Amino acid sequence: MSEQLATNDKQLVAIHAATLVKNGMIVGLGTGSTANYFIEELARKKQQEGLKFIAVASSVVSTIKAQQLGLDLIAIEHLSQLDIYVDGADEVTADNTLLKGRGFDLVKEKLLAKASNSFYVLADNTKLVDRIGEKYPIPVEVAPFSWQLVLRSLQQIGGEGGLRPNANGDGLAITSHGSLVLDMTFDSSIDGDELHSALNAIPGVVEHGIFHQLATSVFIGHDGVIETR
Ligand code: A5P
Repeated sequence: MSEQLATNDKQLVAIHAATLVKNGMIVGLGTGSTANYFIEELARKKQQEGLKFIAVASSVVSTIKAQQLGLDLIAIEHLSQLDIYVDGADEVTADNTLLKGRGFDLVKEKLLAKASNSFYVLADNTKLVDRIGEKYPIPVEVAPFSWQLVLRSLQQIGGEGGLRPNANGDGLAITSHGSLVLDMTFDSSIDGDELHSALNAIPGVVEHGIFHQLATSVFIGHDGVIETR
């Protein structure tokens, strides 16, 4: 049985996470470059080792990637729970709170994280932060009709920001579910837990990018070594 060797830290933690997938499991696939390594390793294990599992994807791009690599997929609407979900993150704090959602699929990502028996997060050193929102704005997904009302609520708790533009800059970014995204920054004095609760309480917010107390473990790759926390 050939062992897959990693060429970088993202791939290293992805290969490690794939060793936790056992025959018969329902496996959630994340989105992004790190999650892609995980999907590729699962495909390799299926082909070369006969690993049997069913996958559920967190996004359109992960669905397409999994399809192209021949994974067996089930739609999220057919599930009430899954065994394992593996995804990357944009930021990770010391208490394993995550910032996610630079993509367009944080609703499915959070649903899968919550519904999985184990949620493993793949990161390298560049993702580690002292506080959520240190490197990136916090994405807040909103129904199109509610964006101004939500923006006002966010401003009332100290948020600054606005609607995310599309990639060309000639329109607005639209999520997989037809929502808009407010990318918001908050003063560093606002604690991540406090912000998480405050965002949960705003009417009109479809979902937001702070994943608090959801990760089972975070695998951090650093110069070829994996730290688990
Ligand atoms: C997708 O919406 C995000 O939550 C991703 O998990 C995040 O952007 C990680 O991407 P990379 O693995 O490419 O860094």
